[in-house]
Amino acid sequence: MDLRSHGGDGDGTVYDAAVVGGGLIGLVTAWRAAGRGLRTALVDPRPGGGAARVAAGMLAAVTELHHGEEALLDLNLASAGRYPEFAAELAEATGTDIAYRACGTLQVALDADDRAQLRELHALQRRCGLDTQWLTGRECRRLEPMLAPGVRGGLRVDGDHQTDPRLLVAALLTACERAGVSFVNATATGLVVRGDRAAGVRLDGGTVLAADRTVLAGGSRSAGLDGIPPSVAVPVRPVKGQILRLRMPSGGGAPFLSRTVRAVVRGEQVYLVPRASGELVVGATVEEQGWDTSVTAGGVYQLLRDARELLPGLTELPLAETCAGLRPTSPDNAPLLGPTALPGLFLATGHHRNGVLLAPITGEAMAVALTTGELPDYARPFSAQRFSHDHREVPA
Ligand code: GLY
Repeated sequence: MDLRSHGGDGDGTVYDAAVVGGGLIGLVTAWRAAGRGLRTALVDPRPGGGAARVAAGMLAAVTELHHGEEALLDLNLASAGRYPEFAAELAEATGTDIAYRACGTLQVALDADDRAQLRELHALQRRCGLDTQWLTGRECRRLEPMLAPGVRGGLRVDGDHQTDPRLLVAALLTACERAGVSFVNATATGLVVRGDRAAGVRLDGGTVLAADRTVLAGGSRSAGLDGIPPSVAVPVRPVKGQILRLRMPSGGGAPFLSRTVRAVVRGEQVYLVPRASGELVVGATVEEQGWDTSVTAGGVYQLLRDARELLPGLTELPLAETCAGLRPTSPDNAPLLGPTALPGLFLATGHHRNGVLLAPITGEAMAVALTTGELPDYARPFSAQRFSHDHREVPA
């Protein structure tokens, strides 16, 4: 792809918006900002990388519900509801099908402890007004015949679907290019502050990219720029996830797996996401290992051991790929969106386990924030300022 490069402020350009970070969240923010008429630059030495290259692409608003995260549930559901239109819009703009599949999810339990935990989740889902259905082990196996005979029961969640994050990122690269986003293939090293405002970023090599609004959207590395003032908190840390990609048998006959299947095995989450392309994604570890992105024997072993308990036939499948990525995680596992305490500086990061799910609504909310200075109502609980010491809304 011919991505236009821009070398900094040599030509005196002042962008309306500079988005720092060309992963999924940076791309969707830049695309939506350009769509609102903002002259937008995307700063990344290699746009299209980041956690989404590793992610399985589950849109798991309901199955990943946790106690205390009811506000996040509303945002997750709202974003999940936008996916069909988002996928259609991207297909129209780019010709790329992001493999959005309304396949649903089955969350199963393997033993009495798992079943008790799943009953708890079911009760929480019902209290939140979610429509999920309890199935016996036999009913689970009727839906997915490859499941282990030991499955004791499960929850049928017909609204949790999937997309292919690699196709999504490819589509957004094209969409940005077609919307006129300038790709600045450089590393941003520092935030430029003039007076009491953010005024752009310094690039490696020393040039300055000038912008009225700067968005930190670099995933777990969003806090890495020099010069971010202490009044602006960017509390993101990396949480490692290792993932496997297997190939399912092709040809006629019943599908190996027709929907996403997941479980908690020995206290660890495991999920299997079958794509129409024949890929079966198995994920994911959750590890606090700093910036380490190595694939380890222990990580692969854990995933295969747990996945095999759900689906014994899986050990026959070719193992096509192993990889690891870093979830950008905030103290409350929810995203950090919109204006910060420094006028002109915005955040779009901290999406933790929900980056792919939240892409549509993040792009939309950030475009509103960049053009009006304020987050839309639905995104206000996720204000970028909620962890600042001096927490008060300031004009952007
Ligand atoms: N949402 C899946 C994961 O973060 O592993």
